[in-house]
Amino acid sequence: MNLILMGLPGAGKGTQAEKIEAEYPIAHISTGDMFRAAMAAGTALGLKAKSYMDSGSLVPDEVTEAIVKERLGESDTDAGYMLDGFPRTIAQAEALEQITADLAKPVEAVINIAVEPEVLVDRLSGRFICKTCGATYHKLYHPTKVAGTCDRCGGHEFFQRDDDKPETVKNRLKVNIEMNTPLLDFYKSRNLLFEVNGDQDIDLVFAEIEKILKAIAK
Ligand code: AP5
Ligand code: MG
Repeated sequence: MNLILMGLPGAGKGTQAEKIEAEYPIAHISTGDMFRAAMAAGTALGLKAKSYMDSGSLVPDEVTEAIVKERLGESDTDAGYMLDGFPRTIAQAEALEQITADLAKPVEAVINIAVEPEVLVDRLSGRFICKTCGATYHKLYHPTKVAGTCDRCGGHEFFQRDDDKPETVKNRLKVNIEMNTPLLDFYKSRNLLFEVNGDQDIDLVFAEIEKILKAIAK
């Protein structure tokens, strides 16, 4: 199963990817997570990405396309993949078509998690992430079951993302809202687009996604 998860910052791409991963053995490929890992490791890629991410702008297409191309070439994607946060421009979408055609791993469904922008600032400002396993939580909408302990790995250290500061969030939303409609139109024209209502409880969003996954797995 080869998927794209689309949605504005804070729509719930990462949250739903964690739930999909728990049930379907497909590779979760988040370009944001890859850039953050490169930044933490201090690699050349991380240094290149840092200034863009700190301001909430997009990392240049050629940089992002290159890491996705390399990642989709790895064997764990043979059983399927879900892209989270890629593509974000029409140029990236076109590059992805070429990459997946060359690898004979075409995209089978694009799932857009639709949420009105007004909800998103609140979601991003309350987000916290497990330092050990990367599981995502929210102080009000998705707290850990036991305060201070990660549900998934039992870790006790958490962090907030640097780009969840209010000034950066504003620009991230602006940049992504601009690109959203053209990208949705791109995938609509290819009959690949599915919409789910992302403005409901996390488990209800997942139930909608599961229906789509069951339908395309047939
Ligand atoms: P990236 O890491 O992809 O960030 P993003 O798109 O801004 O999305 P987020 O990860 O913030 O949100 P999400 O949809 O995953 O939401 P989450 O599940 O965490 O990219 C970061 C940066 O990297 C970009 O700004 C750019 O600079 C660069 N970059 C990455 N990809 C690129 C590309 N292709 N091209 C160029 N540059 C690129 O949920 C958010 C919060 O809400 C959590 O606290 C969660 O618990 C909560 N929540 C989730 N679902 C619900 C729900 N249904 N109800 C209530 N709360 C919920
Ligand atoms: Mg995410």
